[in-house]
Amino acid sequence: MVQGATNWNTELTQEWLQEYVDDWVSFYRKRTADGEVASYIPILEEANRDHLGISIVGNNGMTVRSGDADIPFTIQSISKVLTFVVACMERGLSYILDRVDVEPTGGSFNSIMHLEISRVEKPFNPFVNAGAITVTSMLEGKTSDQKLEPFYELLEKMLDYRPALNVDVYESERDSSMRNRAIGYYLLETGFLESDLNVTLETYFKQCSVEITIDDLARIGMIIANDGENPANQEEIIPRQVARLAKALMLTCGMYDASGKFAAYVGVPAKSGVSGGIIALSPSRARDETLPFMSGCGIGVYGPALDDKGNSIAGIRLLRHIANQWDLSVF
Ligand code: DON
Repeated sequence: MVQGATNWNTELTQEWLQEYVDDWVSFYRKRTADGEVASYIPILEEANRDHLGISIVGNNGMTVRSGDADIPFTIQSISKVLTFVVACMERGLSYILDRVDVEPTGGSFNSIMHLEISRVEKPFNPFVNAGAITVTSMLEGKTSDQKLEPFYELLEKMLDYRPALNVDVYESERDSSMRNRAIGYYLLETGFLESDLNVTLETYFKQCSVEITIDDLARIGMIIANDGENPANQEEIIPRQVARLAKALMLTCGMYDASGKFAAYVGVPAKSGVSGGIIALSPSRARDETLPFMSGCGIGVYGPALDDKGNSIAGIRLLRHIANQWDLSVF
């Protein structure tokens, strides 16, 4: 059932798609056994590695959700997309791009070596930790709560509720994240940071510890897919230019040193987090009216068993299968 081409040329009802997605989730759930949950932030080790869930929200309002779809988890690195968006909205694109580059590193998300060996003028991109911490230092405000207020406001606008901080995850990361502190000191020494180091790190740990669901990720993805506009009422939530840049960065840098393979085999902008979340999206593609979610969609995936790059192992395979079946690729 899972392998092989399907003829989608039939009435695309939600119930009909649901059967397929249920089938694919139970097939790919077996792959969670090949991965490990993150343990370098101690509390993340408590996640159930067999979990796998997906939520897909179309621009036309159609929703398909399957598997472990109701489990809240912390947003982790997926927050980097949103702080980048907020920083661009606060400071303007050119200000941010003068200080953080848009190049993939080909290295791990928490690498320091790349900064030092290449003696870069600015961190490589806003989605590796060095770039994200630099972006967070550029958020307006003196305290972490002031810096994060527009981030929460953006979430609230997109989701119609205000997600909360998971204090246990925040404290676990704050008390264990020596690598991010080392990156922070390196950035301080090299003059990249625009705010106090401790405030910046506190803000960064907090933004990573906001609790969301895959429905939230799908909705955020759907709005970014739609160039920042809410398709229900055409309200601009994110400026078009910023949304488009976020999509380009998700495609080139969103899956860290697996971004090339993800672009080649899945072909959609995406961003992963170490708690097992992935946000993905497919912009409107007018090439074949018989395909599901042709007018664009956002996708949220949760699967805490990770591969060696820090991406959800079963989540990537599930996305690859769906993208191929439904021709979601942007290429
Ligand atoms: O900074 C960290 O290490 C975590 N708070 C976030 C890392 C992360 O999500 C990487 N993603 N795969």
